[in-house]
Amino acid sequence: MAQGVVVGILGLGTVGSGVIRILTGHQQELQHQTGCPISAKKILVRDKTKPRDLNIENLTLTENAEDILHDSEIDVIIEVMGGIEESHHYILQSLRSGKHVVTANKDVMALHGTELLREAEENGCYLLYEASVAGGIPVIRGITEGLASDRISQMMGIVNGTTNYILTKMAQEERDYEEVLAEAQELGFAESDPTSDVEGLDAARKIAILARLGFSMNVELADVEVKGITNVTTEDMEYCEQLGYTLKLIGLAKRTDERVELTVQPMLLPNDHPLASVQDEYNAVYVHGEAVGETMFYGPGAGSLPTATAIVSDLVAVVKNIRLGTGGNSNSRPLHSKALQANEEVESKYFIRLHVKDQTGTFDDLSSLFKEEDVGFDKLLQWPLEDENDPKSEVVIVTHLTNRAAYERIYKELENMDVVLDVKSSYRVEGGQVS
Ligand SMILES: NC(=O)c1ccc[n+]([C@@H]2O[C@H](COP(=O)([O-])OP(=O)(O)OC[C@H]3O[C@@H](n4cnc5c(N)ncnc54)[C@H](OP(=O)(O)O)[C@@H]3O)[C@@H](O)[C@H]2O)c1
Repeated sequence: MAQGVVVGILGLGTVGSGVIRILTGHQQELQHQTGCPISAKKILVRDKTKPRDLNIENLTLTENAEDILHDSEIDVIIEVMGGIEESHHYILQSLRSGKHVVTANKDVMALHGTELLREAEENGCYLLYEASVAGGIPVIRGITEGLASDRISQMMGIVNGTTNYILTKMAQEERDYEEVLAEAQELGFAESDPTSDVEGLDAARKIAILARLGFSMNVELADVEVKGITNVTTEDMEYCEQLGYTLKLIGLAKRTDERVELTVQPMLLPNDHPLASVQDEYNAVYVHGEAVGETMFYGPGAGSLPTATAIVSDLVAVVKNIRLGTGGNSNSRPLHSKALQANEEVESKYFIRLHVKDQTGTFDDLSSLFKEEDVGFDKLLQWPLEDENDPKSEVVIVTHLTNRAAYERIYKELENMDVVLDVKSSYRVEGGQVS
């Protein structure tokens, strides 16, 4: 410790470069906070000969992970290489050899977090992962420390910048999904293969991590119901605007009567909900605690320096703890066993857009179906559609609160009803009443 804390870094891409910049640029502040110098020693890369836009004169680049994992001078490993199998293996190996780990890897933490945190605890090491959810926003620390005394009842997050960028542009500029996606790819906000983002999988990983922490429950990625944004249309956006809603891809983790619901899907929020004003590639996590009430964490969900800030802040926490002589992650075992809500227990309002035959009796048939399931209409719009030979109208319904099982029965019936020509779209409506 006399020479300070020595760090090995796995990966020198977008985030790894940011980590080096902050470690060198903020060294005085870091020393002041931790009481000792922190220095990076070796960095794992795929290709040592690749030109780097960074001063790495005093660092050793290696293509062999063992050079870092077996270096006894290295106290802390920062894993910013991404991927799953290799990084999982390296994190495990680091913890087993007594090295603390800081990672930005949501894939590994969502899939193997429980095992890795137990390993950290058993080896007296720290495993911190602030950057794995919402990049530069200190939401994990907010939940685990800031709200440690509360019981969290709900977390709602815009935790994927790519999809928030696409939905923001679709709403503001009335452009369709494919066009905005192509623009996002050009601007570097979306990957060339955007599947993980637009299908909601990236957000699901983050929600699994948050739910495990916030509810202290051993939920898994497979417990998150996932639906992406690929079917969202400009028509849906227009109706949202008319009705006073904003459409967002929301990761929702909700606890009711000790049972939880985890889902990622496009949802309608009233325009005055705090998450409705989160624009472009920004992220935010809205947390409701039984005692504190509403809180919201907002900021950049990705990017080199924002993400690196979260990583180096984790590093500072590790170094402070090393100096205090405390023994690694504790209470990694969840307090509660997994208890998921059944369909009948999940309560929500729903938006549904239909094309129906424009004829006498259509509305009676629709009303009867909803009445049978005891589901009332909160809002209703009807619009004639231009078609001389085949008169039809577009109907938009927002229901009152109902349970999901009842809504699913209604939805299934609508698809088979004679007066219904097409069920165009359907979304959950969350976040209270439109004012
Ligand atoms: N980018 C963000 O804004 C952001 C935000 C939050 C979390 N994260 C997470 O942070 C991690 C890193 O993301 P990134 O954007 O920095 O990735 P990146 O730019 O692709 O960089 C990856 C780095 O790791 C190295 N690497 C990858 N696989 C390797 C292997 N098998 N062996 C040796 N070196 C390997 C690469 O080496 P070369 O340089 O030689 O190719 C590169 O330096 C990911 O888990 C990501 O999900 C990223």
